[in-house]
Order: sequence, then C-alpha cells, then structure tokens
Amino acid sequence: MMRTSFAILAAIIPLTFTFGASVENLLPRNTTQKQDLSPAQCCDGLKRILDPSKVLLPGSPEYAAQEASYYSGEQVLQFPVCRVAPTSPEDVSSIIKFATTSNCNFAVRSGGHMNWVGSSNIGPEGFTIDLEDMKQIELLDDSKTVSISPGLTWADVYTFLRPHNLHTAGGRSSHVGVGGFLLGGGISFLSLEHGFGSDNIINYQIVLADGSIVNANEAERSDLYWALKGGSTNYGIVTRFDMVTFPLDQMWGGSLYYNISLGPTLLDYLVGFTERLAVDANGLFALSIAWNAADNDYLIWSPNAYLAPTPFPSPLYDGLEEIPTVRDTMRITNLVSVTDEINMSSPGGSRTQWFALVFKADATLPWDIYQKGADIMAPFLGKEGTSWALTLQPINVGMIAAAANRGGNPFGLTEKDGDLFLLLISIFWTDPEDDGKIKATTQDFLRWSTDTAKQRNLLNRFIYLNYALDTQPVLASFGDENVRRMKAVQKKYDPKGLLKVWKGGYKLDEL
Ligand SMILES: Cc1cc2nc3c(=O)[nH]c(=O)nc-3n(C[C@H](O)[C@H](O)[C@H](O)COP(=O)(O)OP(=O)(O)OC[C@H]3O[C@@H](n4cnc5c(N)ncnc54)[C@H](O)[C@@H]3O)c2cc1C
Ligand SMILES: *[C@@H]1O[C@H](CO)[C@@H](O)[C@H](O)[C@H]1NC(C)=O
Ligand SMILES: *[C@@H]1O[C@H](CO)[C@@H](O)[C@H](O)[C@H]1NC(C)=O
Ligand SMILES: *[C@@H]1O[C@H](CO)[C@@H](O)[C@H](O)[C@H]1NC(C)=O
Repeated sequence: MMRTSFAILAAIIPLTFTFGASVENLLPRNTTQKQDLSPAQCCDGLKRILDPSKVLLPGSPEYAAQEASYYSGEQVLQFPVCRVAPTSPEDVSSIIKFATTSNCNFAVRSGGHMNWVGSSNIGPEGFTIDLEDMKQIELLDDSKTVSISPGLTWADVYTFLRPHNLHTAGGRSSHVGVGGFLLGGGISFLSLEHGFGSDNIINYQIVLADGSIVNANEAERSDLYWALKGGSTNYGIVTRFDMVTFPLDQMWGGSLYYNISLGPTLLDYLVGFTERLAVDANGLFALSIAWNAADNDYLIWSPNAYLAPTPFPSPLYDGLEEIPTVRDTMRITNLVSVTDEINMSSPGGSRTQWFALVFKADATLPWDIYQKGADIMAPFLGKEGTSWALTLQPINVGMIAAAANRGGNPFGLTEKDGDLFLLLISIFWTDPEDDGKIKATTQDFLRWSTDTAKQRNLLNRFIYLNYALDTQPVLASFGDENVRRMKAVQKKYDPKGLLKVWKGGYKLDEL
C-alpha cells in the first residue's frame, strides 16, 4: 500500500512542477544567499571557468581511467556528474571559488587510496576534483628540500629522487598518492627516526576556502601549518608540499614469509625489535597475518626495510635469521623496487573495510585479536575474493619524539605513551551482496578489539587517520585541546564555513 502511494506521488510531482505549481514548495532549497546549481549545472559552470578539456564526462576514456584508479572497489563505482582535472594552483583556486559560491558539492582525489566509500569520490550529487595532472616536482635549497605536487604517486617521487641519492618521508607502496598520505600524517620507512611524513613538511602551498593561494610554514601562518599536519579535508586543497630530503643510496629490503604457527614467536620478536629501535631506527620490521586463499590457511608476511645496504644489521635484527621462513625476497636493492613489491602484495579494486587501533607494544593482544578475527571471518572466507589481514607495526618513542622536535602535530601522542603498536585490520570482498554482513562484522570486530585492549589497559586513544574506518572518531582521538586548536584555525581561515560543500575525509564540523 505505502509503496504504491509513494510511487504515485513520485510520478505526480514532476508533472506538477512542469505545469508551474508552487515550485518553492516542491524544492526546499534555500536560495536566498547562495546561488544553488544542480550538479549538472555545476559541471557546465566548470567548463566555462576552465579550459573545457579539463572537465571529464562519463563515457570518456579519461573519466573511466580516473574512476578505475581508486583502490576501494566501492569508490570505483561512485560516478560523479563530472571529474575535473586542474593543472595549476590557479585552476584549483577557480574551482574552489566557483564551487563555494554556487553551492556545488565536490570530493578531492590525489592517489585515490583511501579505503572508505565517499572519502575521495562522490556520486551523482557532485563532482570530483582529481589532482592527477598536478605532477610538478623539483629540488630546492641546494637539494635539501623537494617540492612535490599532489598528483604524484610516491613511486614518481622516489624515481625522481633516486639519481640524486635522496629519499623523503613518503609512502611505502608505489601507487599511494602524495596528497592523502601527507594530510593524514603518513608513515614512511624514515618515520621511526624522523616522525610522520607530515612532520617532515616545511611548507604547504594551499588554496583556501575563498580561493586565495597561500603558504603555511613555521614563519607564515604557523597555526595553519601545525593543523595541516593532520588536517584531512578541513582547510583547503594543498597544491604543493615542500619536504625535507635525506640521503639514500642502496638499501636492504623485501619480504619474509612465515608459517602461521610462528605467530606468537614473531609477535614477541616485534616487541624486542621495537625496543631496539631506541639504538638504531633505520629499519622497519612489520607483520601482516593474512588469509591466503591459495593455501586455504593463514600466512605471515613481514615487509622489511633497512636504509643501508646491510643484511640483518645488528643489534636491530639480532635473532631474526634463526626464525625459519617459507619464502624470502630480502635483497640489497633500491627503494622503488621495495615499494613496488609492497604495491604488488596489496592490489586494489576490492571492496574494503579497514580499521586502525593503537596500543602498548604487547605480543599477546594482537594474537588474540587475530584469533577473534579468524573466528568471525570464517563464514566468509570460502568465497572467492574474500580475505582479511591483521597488520602490525611499531610507533616507537623515537618517532613520537622526532615529531615534537619538528614543531609538533595535532595527533596528541607524547613520549609518555611509550612504545606502541599500530594495528591495521583490512577486510576485502567483491560481492556487493555481502556489504551489509561484512560491514556489520567489521563493526563487531572493531568493538571487540577496542574493548579487549581497554580491559587489558593497553589501549592508546590515538586513531591513525590513514588506516581508519569512516565511522571511527579519528579527529576526536587527537584530544580535546588539539581539536579546539584545529577548530580555531578552521574558523580563522574559513570563517563562513564555505568548505562545507567539500565531502569526504574527516570533518571538524562533525565534532
Ligand atoms: C596499498 C596501500 C599502501 C599504503 N601504505 C601506507 C604507508 O606506507 N604508510 C601510511 O601511512 N599509509 C599507507 N596507506 C594509507 C594511505 O596513506 C591512505 O590511504 C591515504 O589516504 C592515501 O592517500 P591518497 O592520496 O592515495 O588517497 P586519496 O583517496 O586520494 O585521498 C585521501 C584523502 O585526502 C584528501 N586529499 C587528497 N589530496 C589532497 C590535497 N592535495 N589537499 C587536500 N585534501 C586532499 C582526499 O580528499 C581524501 O579525503 C596505504 C594504503 C594502501 C591502499
Ligand atoms: C536561508 O539562508 C539564510 C542565510 O544563510 C538564513 O538566514 C535563512 O533563515 C534561510 N532560510 C530558510 C528558509 O532556511
Ligand atoms: C604450517 O606448519 C604446519 C606444521 O606446523 C603445517 O601443518 C601446515 O601445513 C603449514 N602451513 C602451510 C600453509 O604450509
Ligand atoms: C601497483 O598496483 C596497481 C594496482 O593497485 C597496479 O595498477 C600497478 O601496475 C602496480 N604497480 C607496480 C609497479 O607494481
């Protein structure tokens, strides 16, 4: 009954509209202040203010290629009315001015690797600003700084830096984008010694809500500079990141694979490794316990890197060689070869749910979380394309101290937190019919893991933005004082709240 009457109403309303009945009542849009345009009109407007070839429409190969490049299978299937590909900060400025004054909704994509639907793409209610044509990169200041645009991937950046024997605090997987990685912090092979990626930015060029193109650094707009280190989508579109460079020639890197029965041994090893980072923080040993459909069993993958051409450097890697592997790709090589290998181990295109948790470095809790996960994921794992992984990596005290030395960031971590583990749970599937059940299971798993860490007095409040689920209270996890400061910065640089039309990311307005 109800259904039928709604269907009839829906059929009648457009007719009434056509014949000129009270349009005001039918369209509850508030047009007294801003000029409201439909999403299609927004795209038409973009063609007038920019070179129209930069506005990509459904059906064109360029639009299709950008859509296909998202990591999350759900974002691949969001279809904005158009995609716009600016090539300069001036283009970005024109787009922001137009969108905020016309009330046009938009999303922003850099490398498209964020895991949740709607984080960097949008549906028919708006358009997507795709930064992929902003690929400028140059060395400045006697090669002490590299200036990077947000359309680059980290492989692009490292390939550029390699002939100069330089490195910077970017991603560990080739195809991750510069923009999102750095606006969520960013954990690099350099982080254990030098802090988050964003701690190694010395200047941001950003387009603010009113379209102005400005710099933010320690001397100029230092409040905005601080907030941007974990700023997500709250302040503007960053069009250039100037980052500190570090020397790097050859390195030791690759993967070690282990039988799942070695889980507890390896988790113990990771606790000791994390302590030894106090002596030498040039290496990373991470653990990923992953369902491996080929074996119909779990497998442990350990990506490793040491930023010098030294195999099993002592004391950091003491004892690891004695733990038997099932496969070993460790070699003396270059950075891109390592980031390509990690990229190959994490292909995109599946539907995804990720969540993040931080707790005191402890070997038992992650094993218990793994066992819980194996239990609740068991009913899904027979289906092709469904899998999940638990990934663990250190956030050592040195990393937290390095961040403070670089002026601090909004994350709220202090040396008193001690050595921590960052846990990432990633769940993958392909059948949209499983969305409801898997998303509900993810919420159960997140709740169980959080509660268990809390009960054992191990939970840290920090939630890592780049690994988090859309429902996790990421910004609130930075602490009240940091949130207050971040909101004050937002009020100062976007006093009218014009950037509300920007969808996706973690929003201060929602707190
Ligand atoms: C395979 C894989 C490997 C990963 N490895 C690492 C790793 O080693 N270390 C780590 O810390 N994280 C890692 N991540 C997580 C990664 O940092 C996040 O997914 C990050 O959001 C990706 O950035 P992006 O530019 O590719 O994403 P996008 O989805 O394009 O962007 C993410 C968010 O940032 C916003 N944004 C992007 N560019 C800008 C800009 N210029 N101005 C303003 N807002 C912008 C977007 O609107 C969106 O909300 C990895 C993820 C994957 C899938
Ligand atoms: C329309 O917007 C203006 C300004 O934002 C506001 O003052 C007014 O109350 C709004 N009207 C309605 C009907 O929402
Ligand atoms: C792991 O080792 C156990 C014996 O400890 C063995 O039964 C099992 O088959 C191994 N798993 C794989 C995937 O090889
Ligand atoms: C990285 O992964 C993407 C898919 O996620 C793939 O298209 C690309 O070819 C990979 N690059 C390398 C160098 O492996």
